[in-house]
Amino acid sequence: MSKKIVVAICGASGSIYGIRLLKALLSRPLKIYLIISKAGMKVLERETGYRNEPFSSFLKDQGIIFHENSGLNIYDQDDFFAPPASGSFRHDGMVIAPCSMKTLGAIASGIADNLIHRAADVSLKERRPLILLPRETPLNIIHLKNMHRAAMAGAVIMPPSPSFYFNPKTISDLVDTVTARILNHLNIEHDLSKEWG
Ligand SMILES: Cc1cc2nc3c(=O)[nH]c(=O)nc-3n(C[C@H](O)[C@H](O)[C@H](O)COP(=O)(O)O)c2cc1C
Repeated sequence: MSKKIVVAICGASGSIYGIRLLKALLSRPLKIYLIISKAGMKVLERETGYRNEPFSSFLKDQGIIFHENSGLNIYDQDDFFAPPASGSFRHDGMVIAPCSMKTLGAIASGIADNLIHRAADVSLKERRPLILLPRETPLNIIHLKNMHRAAMAGAVIMPPSPSFYFNPKTISDLVDTVTARILNHLNIEHDLSKEWG
């Protein structure tokens, strides 16, 4: 059975991380459940030039080649009837890339105000992998405490901090160093980045 991965894109800077992750996931026989917050959509428009075209056309324009057995389901942030809202929906991990401080705060406080918060809350209670890419700088003590609380509840806090030790040449190379770490945590094989040593 194909793995099922929930992906959320929030309104923090760095929507490219979410898009690059989708590129990696959709080129494999995986089922993807995508939620983009309203703010996430605005930042995506700003950072990638997305103009409200059908999302799968946009992804193809971004160079995403869909595997014939991949699947992409897209849900509105207010759709509490979507599968990721329920603990009975068994998936293999949820990634929020990027994750805003607002969404981090909601997760850390157990506030399930939209489908992204709810799906994250469900992932934690069902002990399924939850990977957060929180993006803000500098961080205030509230952000730090929220990361601590989310980590204590079982989330993996993975700030999108690219590595430079393999001499990246392009932005895409840099983003791939982060995408590779996400895929490692989801136990998905890839060739995006070498292993040290
Ligand atoms: C261009 C732009 C960039 C932003 N970058 C960040 C950011 O890096 N981190 C963050 O926490 N919020 C950022 N924000 C603010 C969030 O979009 C805002 O807090 C929003 O309510 C988050 O909602 P969401 O978590 O539902 O996506 C940014 C907003 C804009 C317009």
